[in-house]
Amino acid sequence: MSILVNTSTPCHGLKFILFGIVWLIYNALHHDLNKAGPTQTLYREKRIPERVVHAKGAGAHGYFESTHDLSDITSCKLFTSVGKKARATVRFSTVGGESGSADTARDPRGFAIKLRTEDGNLDWVFNNTPVFFLRDPAKFPHFIHTQKRDPQTHLKDADMFWDYLSQNPESAHQILILFSDRGTPDGYHNMHGYSGHTYKLVKDDGNWVYTQIHLIADGGFKTFDAATAGKLAGENPDYGIQSLFETIEARKYPSWTVYVQTMTPEQAESFRYNVLDLTKVWPHKDYPMRPVGKLVLDENVQNYFAEIEQAAFSPSHTIPYLEPSADPVLQSRLFSYPDTHRHRLGRDGLMAINNQGARPGYQSTIAPLTYLKYKGAINGSPRDYERAAKHETWIGGAFWDLSEVTELDFEQPRALYQNVMNDTDRDHLVSNIAGHLGNVKSPVIKARTLSYFASVDQSLSNHIAEAIGAPNAKPLPVKPVSEAISFRANVNKAVKL
Ligand code: HEM
Repeated sequence: MSILVNTSTPCHGLKFILFGIVWLIYNALHHDLNKAGPTQTLYREKRIPERVVHAKGAGAHGYFESTHDLSDITSCKLFTSVGKKARATVRFSTVGGESGSADTARDPRGFAIKLRTEDGNLDWVFNNTPVFFLRDPAKFPHFIHTQKRDPQTHLKDADMFWDYLSQNPESAHQILILFSDRGTPDGYHNMHGYSGHTYKLVKDDGNWVYTQIHLIADGGFKTFDAATAGKLAGENPDYGIQSLFETIEARKYPSWTVYVQTMTPEQAESFRYNVLDLTKVWPHKDYPMRPVGKLVLDENVQNYFAEIEQAAFSPSHTIPYLEPSADPVLQSRLFSYPDTHRHRLGRDGLMAINNQGARPGYQSTIAPLTYLKYKGAINGSPRDYERAAKHETWIGGAFWDLSEVTELDFEQPRALYQNVMNDTDRDHLVSNIAGHLGNVKSPVIKARTLSYFASVDQSLSNHIAEAIGAPNAKPLPVKPVSEAISFRANVNKAVKL
């Protein structure tokens, strides 16, 4: 300081002193921001784009614990040693609404789980419904655009919604679930989760089975009726976030029992439906639920933005011996999620998501990485694995055409309506559909949608027609079951030739 004063006039000296004080204050503040990592993130990164779908969400941390040994069907380390644990991060979400939309909106719920296993991250990017609206990935952008806002009015549009669905009736199964009270769950943690897609559990000797994964909420699947969900949407749009956070704070940790259903490739050949068709469920009596483990959420986040909003889940984040099947929708998702992550979270610079510290950016296929630096990079433990035998690609008739809608597509929604739902469920279904379909302006779309429901059950359609004051409609003209089955038999024959 004295040097500054001595080498300047008194006036300049004062300026330097003032400058020094400002500099010290600035550095003190800056230092604080740098020290408080989450605060810094909050200030700088708060405005990444929201997810293009599943924008509104809630999340927490916890763990998965294996409770049963599956070594007869897989060599996946997580499922072959009872008591093995993996830390978990879970993000629940609605699908169609923006990030400020109501948690109790009628919508499927996302149930995305990241498990940090000894073999790397395993993401289960599941929904709360066992089926989906489509089985052809090319339809997905069209479908999603009909669930979002109209490009001109910027309004959600009932005509657009039902126009798409009634022209793509493989969606009927999912629509019946969505318009039941399961479409409005009580919060995010009182619901089940499902892979929906068929996956493969593989063994070291090359054997494998198809599998469907289920997470069954230990407290049961709790739902709201439409009136309660609508009231909450106005009074507390963040109901789901709040109830998840408060439940964990109160140490009433939400938990799920994880099950798998399995099917051998040979069984898949005689399965009534295409094993890759994610609009279908596998009957539990034929393909029993086998317990695997528990998922428990026991830790709230410290920084929502850093730990949940910036999380990136993808079905392509998987571990050895748990593989995606050839389901084309699942196959398309393997690429779509990392792609959107680069857009949403960035590739290089401040928002880099692909760097893994000093780890080399490649994976060795047949032997552990021999690159010298790697040894020190991640405690020297290679993530690679070597399998005793390669498994064959199955090319049986179970891969038959997925594009055509036939009478087979109405069997499961019909059974749901006629045999699984009770009278109250059916009443709610009719009034929930009527409440939405009643907003459609086009008589053509209304009539086609009533035909769509008549294909499921004529009385369901007639009840909806009565509720919206429209004439009764006949079922859609589709190929009968006998033709659908004989088509498949021909595919089978062709494959065996
Ligand atoms: C989120 C695409 C089908 C479950 C997303 C996102 C995209 C996407 C782009 C945003 C991801 C992000 O920003 O991080 C697709 C495509 C599908 C499809 C192209 C079909 C062709 C499905 C299905 C399921 C599902 C069938 C469930 C079985 C989810 C979940 C999220 C999500 C849970 C939210 C993940 C999170 O919380 O970060 N999807 N999706 N999606 N999707 Fe899909």
